[in-house]
Amino acid sequence: MQPEDKIVILTGAGISAESGLATFRDDGGLWAQHRIEDVATPEAFARDPVLVHRFYSMRRTQAAAAEPNPAHVALARLQRDWPGEVVIVTQNVDGLHERAGATALHMHGELSRALCAACGHRWDAPSEMTPETTCPACAQVSARPDIVWFGEMPYHMDEIEAHLADCAVFAAIGTSGQVWPAAGFVREAARAGAETVEMNLERSEVSRAFDTVRIGPAGRVVPAWVDGILTAGTGGTTGGAP
Ligand code: APR
Repeated sequence: MQPEDKIVILTGAGISAESGLATFRDDGGLWAQHRIEDVATPEAFARDPVLVHRFYSMRRTQAAAAEPNPAHVALARLQRDWPGEVVIVTQNVDGLHERAGATALHMHGELSRALCAACGHRWDAPSEMTPETTCPACAQVSARPDIVWFGEMPYHMDEIEAHLADCAVFAAIGTSGQVWPAAGFVREAARAGAETVEMNLERSEVSRAFDTVRIGPAGRVVPAWVDGILTAGTGGTTGGAP
């Protein structure tokens, strides 16, 4: 690897599992407890805003009580210490990357933010949002969680595509590779010539698209991967890269 090399990292729910936050598709995950069509679509919100607000208020409270784990901390260290750009694209809506000291592009939104469906204003969400929550900008009763629901366009896609087109390393951590467009990022990065590495507790739907797959809990595998990159430094492509 060279000092100017850009590293793009996609994270999913698995990176926050060791912080105590439920994933979606593991045994007992969120989609085993709730039907997506009841809590994570615009139609669900129109049909039963109380239920949807209750679902996200519960997750907002859980996320606020969780702590970053060694995987989040290691990625923040990589962003700080790697001489090239390190871009974290997260499907997660918790704030654990930021609380570990990193920056991240939240392509599925953030639990900590509210969005006004009437005027588009965004603000820090109260812990408990209800259908009576009003927008501080337009005063209308039109607040919703600032979450990208199924059927809606993920955020930051132009910026993400640009990063995928010129990264030297693409890593995916703790994601099952079952939801698009994130599941296709590895192929876009590979087409641009990036080395690709997947870190997961088990092989995913898209493992075969990666050059390297590292199996194990993110809290152990990610710090080892970051150590390898930072100790190998910029001396060629040996050492910690993928
Ligand atoms: N360390 C590493 N990986 C883990 C760990 C762990 N401790 N625990 C679980 N995993 C892995 C699982 O093996 C699985 O591959 O994390 C992945 C979690 O997959 P999902 O639950 O499908 O979560 P994710 O891939 O982030 O889902 C993507 O789907 O429902 C939508 O919007 C939601 O952002 C979410 C998107």
